[in-house]
Amino acid sequence: MSLRSAPTPLAWQSDFGQLSKTIRQIGIYLVLFGVSLGCQSDPKSEAVPSKAAPSASAQANGNSTPPVIEHPGEALFVAVQSSASRGKALVKKHECSRCHEGTGFQAAPRELHCFSCHEDIARGRFGQGSRKLPGWQETVEHYRYVPSLAHIGKRIRRHWIAKYLHSPTDLRRHLLSNMPRLGLSVTDASDIAHYLTETQQPSAPDSPVSGSLSRGRQLFENKQCGRCHDFSGSGVAISPDLAAAKAEDQPGIRLAPDLRLTRERFLSSALIDWLRDPAAMSSGTRMPNHGLSGADAADLAEFLWQTELKAPVPPVPPKRLPALTRDVSFDEVNEKVLSRTCGHCHTDPLSAGGDGGPGNTGGFGFKPRGLDLSSYRGTMTGHITPSGDRASVFQKTESGEPLLLAAILARSGEQHGTETPGVRGMPLGLPPLNPEQVQLVESWIAQGRRR
Ligand code: HEC
Ligand code: HEC
Ligand code: HEC
Ligand code: HEC
Repeated sequence: MSLRSAPTPLAWQSDFGQLSKTIRQIGIYLVLFGVSLGCQSDPKSEAVPSKAAPSASAQANGNSTPPVIEHPGEALFVAVQSSASRGKALVKKHECSRCHEGTGFQAAPRELHCFSCHEDIARGRFGQGSRKLPGWQETVEHYRYVPSLAHIGKRIRRHWIAKYLHSPTDLRRHLLSNMPRLGLSVTDASDIAHYLTETQQPSAPDSPVSGSLSRGRQLFENKQCGRCHDFSGSGVAISPDLAAAKAEDQPGIRLAPDLRLTRERFLSSALIDWLRDPAAMSSGTRMPNHGLSGADAADLAEFLWQTELKAPVPPVPPKRLPALTRDVSFDEVNEKVLSRTCGHCHTDPLSAGGDGGPGNTGGFGFKPRGLDLSSYRGTMTGHITPSGDRASVFQKTESGEPLLLAAILARSGEQHGTETPGVRGMPLGLPPLNPEQVQLVESWIAQGRRR
């Protein structure tokens, strides 16, 4: 039951180098010529006319009246000449259908599917007869939901999708799993975004919304949109309370995005239609139809788009607890961290019917790294480096931390968009370990990694 893999650190590092180079180049263009990226052309894009929708910056340029919504961090993706057919091949390679519906590919079989196996456990369709089932059902509750990608291009902007795939951040506070940081280059991410939005993204410039902001705020509170949605920074009175919610309301709360991000990611031309009839745009969505009139929807849209937002609370860097003075054994680390969280993706292929999980035999487009964290021996045997050699996961990285610890520490930053060059955060796409777990791993390593 493992999750099987991304580009090697080496490939990723060179990607990163290229990326910062491109950022620098773009910066220079902007400063020197004062031109928007939409107008700037590199030799490649001159040779092949772009099939892509007009870029956000071109849209902003073409029209002098509408308020300009900032799309930070997208310039790199706007500049890429993307290919939908290559994007489709990448969606297959990176196995998006192991988690998402609506990828254009059949859902992966249950033994590979991260969410349907959990769903089956929760509903008692998997693991019947096992004494462990009730315990499993509690554990998997948080890991049953993932947003559908069906018709996503009708509502979400292509360049936002590309940016997000390249550097995923946390969109939904109550959804514990995040989009994993896959090994995608800027071009890969752009190609996939192009494929996902190919036939759906409007080619006309995104139209601005217009309604009454103050009435929109009132409606937002009266209709209790905050039962499911955070709208962080907006100062609205209610916010979701998962613990107090009825069981049938919980999936909606988990899957509702923080509306702070909507003005960055949503097509403003689709917002009113979405608010009036969400299911018409995404069948099976958990967003209810509130029976809004056109005027109500316009006022709500105005509020969502225009209300002033307080700056986000800066992410608190993970608290590092001092090393433990008591003895820490592998058994304890295994019980509280490795077998609980890591073994799911890093297990021994021989004992798992050949599939050692994405972090061992490969998966999600990652090459096999041969890392087995399910036993003492496996953990000591280490991983396969990009050059194909075996190496210890306790070797120091650039930050001076052993790789295993560096990967664990890198995970918290990723959720807020801060990546550690050359180190992929672990556990992949899942909540960071808590400070006590980090302390345990760190102390065990410092004490000489006793069995
Ligand atoms: C291991 C499971 C997993 C895999 C594999 C995965 N995703 Fe995701 N993806 C998620 C989760 C979970 C979220 C929701 C994250 C959040 O809300 O913070 C998400 C969110 C997204 C979103 C944003 C959707 C929205 O409505 O907010 C897009 C787009 C996306 N994924 C595309 C992809 C593509 C394309 C691939 C393959 C290249 C892929 N994902 C592979 C789990 C996965
Ligand atoms: C064949 C079924 C199956 C598949 C496929 C599966 N899981 Fe699980 N998962 C389980 C079971 C069973 C548990 C509960 C384990 C326990 O409680 O000891 C679980 C628990 C988890 C947990 C909770 C760990 C914890 O204790 O907090 C996470 C996270 C998780 N799975 C992630 C994934 C991801 C990511 C994938 C896809 C790559 C995946 N799972 C695929 C069966 C599966
Ligand atoms: C029962 C829970 C629930 C309620 C109540 C609810 N929503 Fe939603 N909403 C969702 C979910 C779930 C999604 C994600 C839909 C999807 O991906 O299919 C969503 C998506 C949205 C989006 C798109 C956000 C984005 O960035 O993609 C907007 C805008 C939105 N809702 C506004 C509202 C407004 C305004 C109200 C009140 C009139 C409201 N919602 C009430 C659950 C809810
Ligand atoms: C959802 C699956 C998943 C989970 C859970 C997971 N990993 Fe990984 N891990 C991977 C994948 C895939 C790779 C390969 C990444 C790459 O090649 O860039 C990897 C790579 C690593 C590496 C680097 C190995 C290398 O060759 O560069 C370390 C160290 C690591 N994981 C540690 C952990 C630890 C510790 C945990 C638990 C706290 C954990 N992983 C949980 C999927 C996972």
